[in-house]
Amino acid sequence: MATFTLPKNSTVQPGKVFQAEAGATNVRSFKIYRFDPDSGENPRMDTYEIDLDKCGPMVLDALIKIKNEVDTTLTFRRSCREGICGSCSMNIDGLNTLACLKPIEDVTGEVRINPLPHMPVVKDLVPDLSHIYAQLTSIQPWLKSDTAPPPDGERLQSKEERAKLDGLWECILCFCCSTACPSYWWNGDRYLGPAVLLQAYRWIADSRDEATGDRLDQLQDPFRLYRCHTIMNCARTCPKGLNPAQAIGEIKMLLAEREG
Ligand code: SF4
Ligand code: SF4
Ligand code: FES
Repeated sequence: MATFTLPKNSTVQPGKVFQAEAGATNVRSFKIYRFDPDSGENPRMDTYEIDLDKCGPMVLDALIKIKNEVDTTLTFRRSCREGICGSCSMNIDGLNTLACLKPIEDVTGEVRINPLPHMPVVKDLVPDLSHIYAQLTSIQPWLKSDTAPPPDGERLQSKEERAKLDGLWECILCFCCSTACPSYWWNGDRYLGPAVLLQAYRWIADSRDEATGDRLDQLQDPFRLYRCHTIMNCARTCPKGLNPAQAIGEIKMLLAEREG
């Protein structure tokens, strides 16, 4: 499917309303962003009235119900339904989060759902992640070592070395943080953003990795790293409770120490 960026002057129009079935008593409205680049039309917000007595508790349950029972054209990503795969990230009630972990009852009134902000939209709630995946590839997120592993076993770490990866390995690459970061909105072509920088630090902090110097060299750049201004939106929005800003701070400290 081709990927399109919304024209800057496009406005989101009011859309269709799909009413709840007769007799429903526990109705909630879901206002959902719709955009089909093949239609040539501006995006719109469609409203779906859902009977919560016949729906699971999470926002993703409502989206699946809408797709299965009301409007099969609604497009979104999901896989695990338990906060592990990172595919159902979207903006719900103004906050980037995972639809499968967001209880409907946590939202007051109408549930507004948009794609992750400031990304090109492929269709409806599906952003184009090609650029951010290319940025992830650029930091070479895998163990790099010239030393062969011990012939009789694995590369070992002490408990203290392993503990340094806590708060990093849990990242599921949902990109809620990067797409909430104002610096990434404005400089995302060159700034790597919080998700990718947290991944970069995950490998810098790994005692088994032998490419720390090269990794730091690659980040010593006015745009790739130093566009972070510690605004902290990333830590506030991360659905896994991680703190990318802190990881970015650790990289800056290592670079400063190296400078001497
Ligand atoms: S702390 Fe840095 S990475 Fe996080 S939102 Fe702010 S500018 Fe972006
Ligand atoms: S740091 Fe959190 S918000 Fe950012 S990609 Fe990882 S899990 Fe998602
Ligand atoms: S469906 Fe996998 S994280 Fe939500």
